[in-house]
Amino acid sequence: MEWGMKNRLARLIQKDGKALFLPVDHGYFQGPTHKLEKPGETIEPLLPYADAIMLTRGVLRNCVDPKNTKPVILRVSGGASVVGENLANEGLITSITEILRVNASAVSMSVFIGSKYEHQSLLNLTKLVDSCEDYGIPVMAVTAVGRELEKRKARYLALCCRIAAELGARVVKTYYCEQEFHKVVEGCPVPVVIAGGPKVDSEKEVFEFVYDGLQQGAIGVNLGRNIWQTEYPVGMIRAIRAIIHENYTPKEAQNLFEQIRAEKA
Ligand code: R5P
Repeated sequence: MEWGMKNRLARLIQKDGKALFLPVDHGYFQGPTHKLEKPGETIEPLLPYADAIMLTRGVLRNCVDPKNTKPVILRVSGGASVVGENLANEGLITSITEILRVNASAVSMSVFIGSKYEHQSLLNLTKLVDSCEDYGIPVMAVTAVGRELEKRKARYLALCCRIAAELGARVVKTYYCEQEFHKVVEGCPVPVVIAGGPKVDSEKEVFEFVYDGLQQGAIGVNLGRNIWQTEYPVGMIRAIRAIIHENYTPKEAQNLFEQIRAEKA
């Protein structure tokens, strides 16, 4: 692996081998998502606790101070919307020149395996990998399920992660699943991070799936709504960070969260 690629990966994945990515890219197909209406305001208090932020060029340019030194994972697939015909009908939306111009540490794009647009999204991935590898930029593949959240089972996720890695992704983002998540990670030769999906009912649930995902081999998270859609986003990100980088148990993370919440009150 060449120096540039190694250096960018080292900015994303910390010395302990773990990572906390904060995605705020949801507007690229959902519009002004709840609690992300003003992305700059959402991001600002959370940034110190994230290892990288994931977002589109539009939000980066307009809502993030260019003096920001946190690594940027640029979302470069899109072209579909929640009110359109099919969320899987995505293309590549950002050129390699633009990726370099905004000094991205990595790029991310979605693959929709098993969908009508499977072939298209997988070829998008290979094209992106070919362009980005020339410049030492890692591609993170997002194994997307669109509206079909019930697809989040080990067998399907393992298939998606493996295919994405085989086609050249340097990191894969997938969903956690309760049954046999370790099979998803074991079948994937590149690091796996987990997304949260729609906001769940309690903090405890988030701490438990993050902890369990790590125990089963994920290197960290790319977790958005279950941080910034909650009532105490700073408490959430700090508690999740403690699980990832300080080996906190869910119980210890909950205690830390309660402590931060009490300080705010
Ligand atoms: C989809 O909107 C994006 O790929 C998100 O970055 C990804 O789903 C992670 O965010 P969340 O934890 O909110 O699902």
